[in-house]
Amino acid sequence: MNLLIKNGTVINAVGREALDIAVSDGKILSVGQNLKPGTQTEIVDASGLFVLPGAVDVHTHFELNFGEFSSADDFYTGTKAAACGGVTTIIDFVTPDKGESLVSALEKRKATADPKVCIDYSLHMGLSEVNDKVLDEMRDVIEHGVRSFKVFTTYAFRLTDDEFARTLTRAKELNALVMVHAEDHETLEANRARFISEGKTDSWHHYLSRPEAVEAKAVKNVIKIAKNKGASIYIVHLACAEGLNAVEKAQAEGYPVYAETCPQYLNFTCDVYKRPDGRNFVCSPPIKGQASQDALWHGVLASKGINTIATDHCPFNTNEKNLGKDNFTKIPNGVMGVENSYPYILSEANKGRISFERAVELCSANPAKIFGLAPQKGIVATGADADIVLYDPNKIFKISQKNMHSKIDYTIWEGAAIKGYPVRTYSKGKLVYKDGEFYGKAGHGQFI
Ligand code: URP
Ligand code: ZN
Ligand code: ZN
Repeated sequence: MNLLIKNGTVINAVGREALDIAVSDGKILSVGQNLKPGTQTEIVDASGLFVLPGAVDVHTHFELNFGEFSSADDFYTGTKAAACGGVTTIIDFVTPDKGESLVSALEKRKATADPKVCIDYSLHMGLSEVNDKVLDEMRDVIEHGVRSFKVFTTYAFRLTDDEFARTLTRAKELNALVMVHAEDHETLEANRARFISEGKTDSWHHYLSRPEAVEAKAVKNVIKIAKNKGASIYIVHLACAEGLNAVEKAQAEGYPVYAETCPQYLNFTCDVYKRPDGRNFVCSPPIKGQASQDALWHGVLASKGINTIATDHCPFNTNEKNLGKDNFTKIPNGVMGVENSYPYILSEANKGRISFERAVELCSANPAKIFGLAPQKGIVATGADADIVLYDPNKIFKISQKNMHSKIDYTIWEGAAIKGYPVRTYSKGKLVYKDGEFYGKAGHGQFI
């Protein structure tokens, strides 16, 4: 036994108990009362602390090239920031070029990530075209360890409804999951063109060009197609009340429809786009109005509708965001969150808004289950990976760019007061974060 965490309160999605945790060779060897150390065992006293499974953030964009822009964090700084926010697994994306073999794009992305990652990671496969070759290659992708496919209903690389339906049929055959970014392309493009021609170019018009109805229309459409095909779908970054209603209805009818939301949609409203730094909050779908925020919190509280919380971490540095200061269509889309999400949700739990168990379910247990990483990830239990967060419910933390570990040069979370904070993160039994400092190393993480 290398490590013994004593006297803490273990909180999993299913409940809590005062238990010791014995760790050996990166795995949890046993969980129980009054566990005895070996001669070489490091003992950590977790009195007064909660012992939680590390978060599983299934939506990050590290080293993403987006036209002329590139997201600020690479796989090193991104996973470093993640570890410092209590995240022990991330899932990022492969974005193959049109015509490129999916498997070779996957191998290239792994080769980029492997030497840099400080925590375990996996990948989703992006699909920007659908043809017999692509549908055929989906099987090879699965054989290479990736079982989730991401598609868009907007951007140049969107799929048509027919292509989306064909993808779902194939995914169902292969027992794979299709993730979808849902916004109605025609409506939002018409809005953007109209606003630009009218000289309405500020960040507020980013929101007005793709408001609640634009997202809801696409969410309802993808659910309709998925129901028709009897296939499961996972809606990424759900941000609007009407879309959530459609998800809840489909779930109540027994359809395998899953939805993820993100901390930016839970903590801010579209009013941020009226601020002078509104461009820093520009992401798609945009952050919506108070009614949507309330509905999303209801989905979080009610144990239905919202299944996971992930971050869509995709920040762009100030100089890149500034390129769109006079024209919202030129602002690179995306915000930061990988270091903020788990502490923020746990803080809301600490303030009594949800239970800690539900926070763990949304941020760790459910994402691990939905993406096939359980029971290795998402739980503190015998046999699981020793991906463990020690959480001090009494620590008060104020977020500032200066105390974050990402490469991004600002944070939309600046000044946010967090009640309770992770004080240690272990990735497969190795200490990677302690009291504000990063202790991990590049290459420690593995593709899972
Ligand atoms: O604005 C966002 N969300 N940027 C990242 C790419 C995406 O659509 O998820
Ligand atoms: Zn998206
Ligand atoms: Zn994304």
